[in-house]
Parts: sequence; structure tokens; C-alpha cells
Amino acid sequence: MTEHTADRQLRERAKSVIPGGMYGHQAAPGAAYPQFMRGGRGARIWDADGNEYVDLMCSYGPVVLGHRHPAVEAAAAEQAELGDCQNGPGPVMVDLAELLVATVRHADWAMFAKNGTDATTMCCTIARAQTGRSKILVARGAYHGAAPWCTPRPAGTTPQDRANLGYYTFNDLASVRQAAEAAGDDLAAIVVSPFKHDAGYDQELVDPAFARGLRGLCDSKGAALVLDDVRCGFRLHLGSSWEPVGVDPDLSAWSKAIANGRALAAVLGNDAFRDGAGDIFVTGSFWFSAVPMAAAVATIRSLKEESAVEAMRRQGEALRDGILAQARSWDLAVRYTGPPVMPYLTFAGDQDHELGGVFAAQALRGGAYLHPRHNWFVSAAMTGDDLALALEATDQAFAAVRKHLGQ
Ligand SMILES: Cc1ncc(COP(=O)(O)O)c(C=O)c1O
Repeated sequence: MTEHTADRQLRERAKSVIPGGMYGHQAAPGAAYPQFMRGGRGARIWDADGNEYVDLMCSYGPVVLGHRHPAVEAAAAEQAELGDCQNGPGPVMVDLAELLVATVRHADWAMFAKNGTDATTMCCTIARAQTGRSKILVARGAYHGAAPWCTPRPAGTTPQDRANLGYYTFNDLASVRQAAEAAGDDLAAIVVSPFKHDAGYDQELVDPAFARGLRGLCDSKGAALVLDDVRCGFRLHLGSSWEPVGVDPDLSAWSKAIANGRALAAVLGNDAFRDGAGDIFVTGSFWFSAVPMAAAVATIRSLKEESAVEAMRRQGEALRDGILAQARSWDLAVRYTGPPVMPYLTFAGDQDHELGGVFAAQALRGGAYLHPRHNWFVSAAMTGDDLALALEATDQAFAAVRKHLGQ
């Protein structure tokens, strides 16, 4: 039986000193969920009460090699012995920029920041600085961060914050052409995510013809193609997520997985946007900290050495096959969408994620931490035992949905 005594006490204390008790994407996604986490190792995590789960959220993406990966932790510890936040970056900043330029096909240079929002915002600023134009096109409903120009909640923002945005529909080239037409001579950039991974909806892989169409449109308009690889980067491919699609962006935004859980973001770009990148003023007190950069170098090397992208895909496919077989055996109609390493499960006809909530809560009780309204993440640390335990939990979760439906 899962106990959440310590968690309940922490929530009570948090209520008085943290607005709303918690905020942002890590607010517990349901009553069954613990809010506070103690730690993790490999593909296992523990909540504040010490309950153990197989981690299918990976800190919402940052943990790609598994929690406390030995090579990453050793590199971070070695750098921490020397220094972290100093009067200038460590030599490791150049090592990391070189490694990213060598690893990501479209990249001729790299800049660093802390969060994905920093990186997507910088991409827009660089595109504007380079082109001297204002308008940015984004897909309707896509998430690019929490700054006023892109936050999904309007509270505290002004219409002016979004005055230079135009909207299109993912995978619908005609809608992009229409939005580009409306931007006229003022189109600075088109921002796109590698696939449609909007929270709460079935996921949609990119149509390669759509990706090629965006590239052609940006070329003909002299605008930047910006790939928001914050969520997918280094999970789908060891390079930009659109390399397998055959389309290179001008600028790409990265964060989450690049340092296996340490706070780091990157903007990568090609030579056509180097001057614009050099002209803007962007910085932050902690942007040049050496420890996350050392962790990133170790992460990228380990991803290569361990063929981690392949390992994740194999485990992701095994998870998908297992879950779909269970759904069939319980005679439940589900949709399992997204790439196997970043899947999402919905139930046919599910109103307001009711069945998704029942499923996720029971999976949690059975020891699998997944999410009812957000894509899941598979890490390279998932072993056969982890997978077996996760599948045991999802089988119980389907049983709970069946029971909930009263049949
Ligand atoms: C596609 C995408 N872009 C940008 C962001 C913003 O990143 P951060 O939360 O690190 O600011 C996220 C975060 O989930 C994301 O998924």
C-alpha cells in the first residue's frame, strides 16, 4: 500500500509559503500522485515517503541515460572540484560547443543558457537580429516555453507580448503559407517542434513533406527555420531530430536531455545566422556554470558509446507492444501515439481524461510513474526488470479502467 504521509505534510507546509502550493508543469498530475520526490537511480525513483517507481517521465525529459548515470556524475564531480560558477566559463564550454557542432549536422556554432524557454526565445531574437524583421510563426497549441510570448496561460501577459506572432496548423503546409502571406515582408522565422507533442492530445509525427515544405518556404522568404528540439533532442536521434527526416533547420533550441538532468540549454545555428547571434545581448548569472557543461560533454559521449538512442527505441517498442497487447486483452480501445521513446496513451471516447486518470493512478499504485495528460519518456537505463514491472503495473491499470467502466 502506497503511503504519502511525508508528502501530505510537505504539501501542507508548501501551501503557506509557495503560491498555490506548487506551480508549473511539475504540479502533481492527480490526487494519487506524490508532489515531492526524494531521488532516483537508473530507471527507478523514490518519492518523499520512499515509495519506489519505474520512471516513465524522466523528470519530464531531462533524464535520458537514467538517474545518477556514473560517467555523467563523475564528470560533474570532477568539474565541481575545480569550480562551477566563476568569473568566466570553464574551458569545458569550448569542448562542449565543439562536441555539439561535431554531433549536430546543421550546427556551425553553439550558445548556452539554462532553460528551454531561454533557448526558444533566443532563437526568435537571433532570427530577428539577423533578418531585421519581426514576425514569428508558431503552430497553434504548440508549447515553446513559459515566457510572456509563449506561455499557455494568459494571466499577466499583454496582447503586445504576442503581437508579432502568426499561427499555423502542424503538418498543414497550406496554413503555414497563409500565415507567411499575412506576415508579408516581415517574416523573421517559423518555429516548429520535431513532432506534434501538445500535452493532452494524441501525438502526431511529422509528415516529411511538411518539413521539406517549411524548409523551402523559409528559403524563399529569407526567414529562419527554427526547430524546437527542447523536448525531443537526443532522444529520437543523436543529432537534430529532423536529420532522419532529411531537413536541417537554421537554428535549433535544446535543453532537457543535453546534460542528463543538469540545468543547461543550448542554441545551435548555421553560419547564415552567426552574425545575428553575435549581435544580441543575452546572458544570465548561471548560464556559464561549468558543472552542467561537463555533465553535457559526458552525456553526449555516453549517448554515443552506449548506443543509447537505439537502446531507448528498443525498450520503447517493447513497452508499446506490451501495452497494446494488454489493451487488446482487456478489450479496451486505445490510441498509443508518438515515437516509442516518447509515447502517449489515450482511451477512445475518454471525456476530460477520466479513463486516462484512472489508468495513470493505478499504474502509479502498481509502481509505474507515468502521466495522464503528457507524453511519457523512456530512458536508456530501463532494464528488462524495469520493463516487466512497468508492464505489470499497466496491466493492473487496464484492469482498473475495465472495472471503472463497470464491465
Ligand atoms: C518543446 C518545448 N519547448 C520549450 C520548452 C521550455 O523548456 P523549459 O521548461 O526548460 O523552459 C519545453 C518544456 O517542456 C518544451 O517541451
